[in-house]
Amino acid sequence: MANTVLVGAQWGDEGKGKIIDFLTEKADIVVRSQGGNNAGHTVLTGGQKYVLHLIPSGILHPGKQNVIGNGVVLDPVSLVEEIEGLRAVGIAVTPENLILSDCAHLVMPYHRALDAAKELAKGKNKIGTTGRGIGPTYGDKVARTGLRLADLMQAELFCSKLATRVEEANAQLISMGAKPVSFDEVKASALEAGAKLRPFVVNTVLYLNKALKAGKNMLFEGAQGTFLDIDHGTYPYVTSSNTTAGGASTGSGVPPHRIDSVLGVMKAYTTRVGEGPFPTENAEIADLLHGMGREFGATTGRARRCGWFDAVSTRYASMVNGIDEIAITNLDGLDTVKTIKICVAYKLDGQELEVPPSDFQLLTSCEPVYIEMPGWETPTDQIKTFAELPKNAQAYALKIAELTGGKLIIVSTGAQRDQTILV
Ligand code: IMP
Ligand code: MG
Repeated sequence: MANTVLVGAQWGDEGKGKIIDFLTEKADIVVRSQGGNNAGHTVLTGGQKYVLHLIPSGILHPGKQNVIGNGVVLDPVSLVEEIEGLRAVGIAVTPENLILSDCAHLVMPYHRALDAAKELAKGKNKIGTTGRGIGPTYGDKVARTGLRLADLMQAELFCSKLATRVEEANAQLISMGAKPVSFDEVKASALEAGAKLRPFVVNTVLYLNKALKAGKNMLFEGAQGTFLDIDHGTYPYVTSSNTTAGGASTGSGVPPHRIDSVLGVMKAYTTRVGEGPFPTENAEIADLLHGMGREFGATTGRARRCGWFDAVSTRYASMVNGIDEIAITNLDGLDTVKTIKICVAYKLDGQELEVPPSDFQLLTSCEPVYIEMPGWETPTDQIKTFAELPKNAQAYALKIAELTGGKLIIVSTGAQRDQTILV
């Protein structure tokens, strides 16, 4: 399968976890290159449900190597919890199948406290973050004041760097009216987690480049989605990493020309969690999906905002990521809809736009221009081949692919591994 980057083409929660899990069969190595435990990948297999936050989905497949790359931000305490949680349900997690980059930045308790305090201070302009400390951690990384896994491996050095950071962070927390963190507690929990993680920590860049030479196949598992990208998303309503395809290279140390293809995953409709512009948002479709028990966040449990498929944004996503192939998920979510809408252009001040405006305030003012397609009004969740899908469902999926620009290779009609149709 060569080296493939899998990206979300919308605002995250496109069902990437399931597609990654499916594609992992053909990969030797699964790599996470950005984000942190703000992600929540739900994988259902053999009647068991797993929600992965930091650990690549390849962990559920014996014999696959999983890599947490340098571009990831890693909360050592919650990573240990995730490892122990997987072991408790019989999944092996060892340094033989999971390695961690020594350059990955650490999410510390003061980052989470700052995340919360900043959101509170923003009031109605809040971003609606997952509260996992992601923004403040990437902020420290870019400000060159962050702590990395390599630091945590050297207790004395770590404690002295940590002391400085805690002092600075506490001053900021206090100035914002928030509770400071305890240096002793932060130190103790980090060192305890660090000792458990030590066997997993290596130079993953070297590992991956040796694996490239040996001809191994890599799957880069994207977290979040294109419009949450710090550069290309609906700034400032974004996450703090590069969620688009280029991030796979910088976040892993695998050179760009060693990446062979980009697979874009998109829902048959659109969802978004947190605040920010969402042109095709629609209350009726939200009620329908929530009523089916769908579209509640895997990480925070928040009800996701829902709307029609937005081909203006996915076309842009296709361009910025270089999407070659497309997987459409959650098609079954539209099984009962009589007439389905697809947004094909935005209208702003009487003009039709073919691409989303970069400024979020302009995007908020955009009116979607829709085309309508007849629904199929039959269950699709048991269907195993594309040919057996109702004609209207086939037409809808192909229309989405045509409008987005990419070859349709997968249609998913349910959360189970076997509810995956290869086109
Ligand atoms: P943060 O990544 O926690 O800073 O949150 C920033 C924005 O990204 C918020 O709108 C979150 O809801 C959103 N976000 C972060 N991670 C995910 C994800 O895995 N799925 C969907 N939305 C996410
Ligand atoms: Mg998710």
